[in-house]
Amino acid sequence: MCGIVGYIGNKQACEIILKGLKRLEYRGYDSAGVALLNGDLRVYKKQGKVLDLEESLNGKNIEGTIGMGHTRWATHGEPNDKNAHPHQSPTGDLSVIHNGIIENYATLKEGLLQRGHTFKSDTDTEVLIHLIEDIMKNANLSLQDAVRAALSQVVGAYAIVILSKNHPEHLIAARKGSPLVVGIGTDRGEFFLASDATPIVEYTNQVIYIKDGEIAIIENKELTIKTIDNVIQTPYIQELEMNLEQLEKGGYPHFMLKEIYEQPKSIFDSFRGRIDGRTGNINMRSVRDYQEKLSKVNRLILIGCGTSWHAGLVAEYLFEDLARVPVEVEYASEFRYRNPVIYPDDLIISISQSGETADTLAAMELAKQKGATVFGVCNVVGSSIPRLSHGGAYTHAGPEIGVASTKAFTAQVTVLTLYALAMAKQRETLSSSRIKQLVKEMEAIPKKVEQALKLNDKIYKIAELYKDAKNFLYLGRGYNFPVALEGALKLKEISYIHAEGYPAAEMKHGPIALIDEEMPVVVIATNNEHYEKLVSNIQEVKARKGKVIAIVTEGNTGLNELADHVIEVPETENCLSPIINTIPLQLLSYHIAVMRECNVDQPRNLAKSVTVE
Ligand code: AGP
Repeated sequence: MCGIVGYIGNKQACEIILKGLKRLEYRGYDSAGVALLNGDLRVYKKQGKVLDLEESLNGKNIEGTIGMGHTRWATHGEPNDKNAHPHQSPTGDLSVIHNGIIENYATLKEGLLQRGHTFKSDTDTEVLIHLIEDIMKNANLSLQDAVRAALSQVVGAYAIVILSKNHPEHLIAARKGSPLVVGIGTDRGEFFLASDATPIVEYTNQVIYIKDGEIAIIENKELTIKTIDNVIQTPYIQELEMNLEQLEKGGYPHFMLKEIYEQPKSIFDSFRGRIDGRTGNINMRSVRDYQEKLSKVNRLILIGCGTSWHAGLVAEYLFEDLARVPVEVEYASEFRYRNPVIYPDDLIISISQSGETADTLAAMELAKQKGATVFGVCNVVGSSIPRLSHGGAYTHAGPEIGVASTKAFTAQVTVLTLYALAMAKQRETLSSSRIKQLVKEMEAIPKKVEQALKLNDKIYKIAELYKDAKNFLYLGRGYNFPVALEGALKLKEISYIHAEGYPAAEMKHGPIALIDEEMPVVVIATNNEHYEKLVSNIQEVKARKGKVIAIVTEGNTGLNELADHVIEVPETENCLSPIINTIPLQLLSYHIAVMRECNVDQPRNLAKSVTVE
């Protein structure tokens, strides 16, 4: 989604802004632009990458210690130079960058057209900056008051930054529904603005997360935060946990590969301090804080989108199997509009890497309005989802830059496993010795993931054979059905090969029609009660000449004759197997995408955090 960077201070703004925009590239975008203030207000923008924008700035006047930059992910109007941000007011005195959607822009535009405005772009954003200038002129309001008045007419979501030629020491920003962070620089009067902390971290670790309905005004070297109704707020300054090294590729060709290889550590970090294999203890703060509530919970509703929804599906098996709690797993985008039935003794768990997914946030808000207790399982510290939750747990996987989620997924599944075990303990649905056994095995998972990563060379060779396939089918059962879905999603999002994940037994109810000698079928057939049935499914695929890539438990030679390729992964408990079985699927999609020369870290059309509906 769109990325925002702003700077005000003593340094040259352009360099800081371009660097910041590059750090935000992972969010996904199709054009970029900057506005710089130095006596006059100069705007440069271009379709394409930040590098294209940078090249186009050669020989241009880029002086100025105040400025802002934007990467645009097109919603209203195709990706081209004129629709790129920043957008300007009719006089050219004001300029705005925006992340979000102004839903009533057509109505607002109609009014402005009637008052003689003409527009240069097809965007909703240009309407906003026209409206602000229109209000300043016709209602004779100050810039600040006009911004507040305009925003009170806006329906939709926004994070905006505004520069004004006539206010050279000024920078105004506001947020509703789209993220915005202020970084407090080390020099007096130096401030950074950004969609997330990644462009800020190399300058300061002191940040303020702007809340919905707040406006940040930087004026005469001071920051003031107000509500849209002009009530001054006391900002809460937070210390950032991430460091610069985590945002660099560290020698890997892609962030995605780096993040795949980080998993032994990220999984460890997600349970570190929370479990003890010697005692079987599970120490989750939110479980302690909500002990009474949790003991009465009659149903869990897990919500998320994409990969986070897949983590929710794995957790459905975990909670029902281990803690005997009924579970529903919902796409946040469907849940929010379905008028769902929610009881006071339901617990909603909202799962998200970014903590900013618009649909997930809206679903949480709805659940809260209906009186439910809402937990968040989230990776990005300080993001909107944990702030909206009653309780929850961070996944502590570290920044995930690759658009395709890898380490965030395994960390989500790890944290959800801890919740399931904690609830099993509380409800006495498992014996203490069984819990201890599972906790101990969880502690062994990082080493087993490390072992699974050693399969890389073998998987590379398999990728070479199937990189030109038009379709892929992924099959799994029980705990590994969501792993099949996740494997298929990973492949399609980064390699653009059509892929479907299916519960293996469903194959004969439709997808079997697709199978011929051209169809690679990945079957997750590790040791569990479904193994024999999965072997029958493999037989069915082979009878139709499909190509089988089987993921089996180490030491199992039973499929060597039947399958075309056998990938042996370390043995573990069935309920923990999704974490390990995901690894070869991540590597397979990564290699295929690289071989097809796809942009692995920034796949076309995709955004890392989907902050609009
Ligand atoms: C995963 O590879 C995807 N890029 C996407 O499905 C993602 O999981 C989804 O958009 C949800 O994001 P979140 O976890 O940040 O809420």
